[in-house]
Amino acid sequence: MPATPSVPSTPPTTPSEEQPAGVSVDRRIAEHWTQRWDRQQEEFLPEREALFDALIDVVQESAGRPDPLVVDLGCGPGSIGARLLRRLPEATVVSMDADPVLIALGRGAYGDVRGLRFVAADLRLPEWVDRLGLARPVDAVVSSTALHWLDPSTLTSVYTAAAGLLRPGGVLVNCDELERDQDAAPTLARLDRALLAREKARWLGTGHGEGWYDWWERVLAEPALATAVAERERQGFAGEHHSDLSAGIEDHRTALRDAGFAEVGTLWRRGEVQLLCAVTASPDGVAVPTRPHTHNNAPAPRP
Ligand SMILES: C[S@@+](CC[C@H](N)C(=O)[O-])C[C@H]1O[C@@H](n2cnc3c(N)ncnc32)[C@H](O)[C@@H]1O
Repeated sequence: MPATPSVPSTPPTTPSEEQPAGVSVDRRIAEHWTQRWDRQQEEFLPEREALFDALIDVVQESAGRPDPLVVDLGCGPGSIGARLLRRLPEATVVSMDADPVLIALGRGAYGDVRGLRFVAADLRLPEWVDRLGLARPVDAVVSSTALHWLDPSTLTSVYTAAAGLLRPGGVLVNCDELERDQDAAPTLARLDRALLAREKARWLGTGHGEGWYDWWERVLAEPALATAVAERERQGFAGEHHSDLSAGIEDHRTALRDAGFAEVGTLWRRGEVQLLCAVTASPDGVAVPTRPHTHNNAPAPRP
């Protein structure tokens, strides 16, 4: 599994607050660290950019409008929001995360991107929903390598809340490294893992770049981030915490069905890495245009 975020083992007793006044990071410094973030994340998800492309394709295909409202759960420094708004400049993305350092980096690097707003909130506390400050139903809820950290009961609560935010026919798209059920299909589970391991080996080629722990050690020592780091410590995020509480694909499928989604399935995968999609019920169906099959290489209509 991707290294898991450093969050407290128990939710803070008070909700995470918005960044206090004064936590702002120089843009060049924030861009430097977010670029390093993206590189170290690719060591876990070698095809991260392709996955994000596919995730944005799903948002675009299902939105049925040029200005979808999108929520990114566990956004880190906002990698998905920044990429989505490059493709869909009329969209609005509300990117939420519990880590004050990552939120500060996202605001510093992408704070002037029109349509992108960061919210500091903890998914384990039900008030995260209100903290998003949404004015209308959401077209898509997206997430990347964040939700496996939640325990199954919290995962169901988060998916249920997400279903409540979505419009009828809205989509939830989650890309993550999720294990197949070992008991039901042990060989396929091993092959899933092997495919990802081989892809990582091809990606790494001549050697490792900056890893998760290196990145965190160095970013926490960055003087320009001292206020955000202090805030992180104040909120109890300083201790390393690692757990894959919902690491199985069946945890997610079950939680999505229990949350009331009408359709649940994988749209893209290589081994354990998958783009899982769930759709809320809609009396009118979902506005994804029908496209012809193109097995015979007939030219497909341009999107
Ligand atoms: C591996 S990072 C991925 C970040 C981002 N989605 C990306 O792909 O670059 C996992 C993220 O989940 C966030 N996270 C973990 N637990 C959370 C919680 N309870 N509430 C909100 N965010 C959480 C972490 O702070 C971290 O930013």
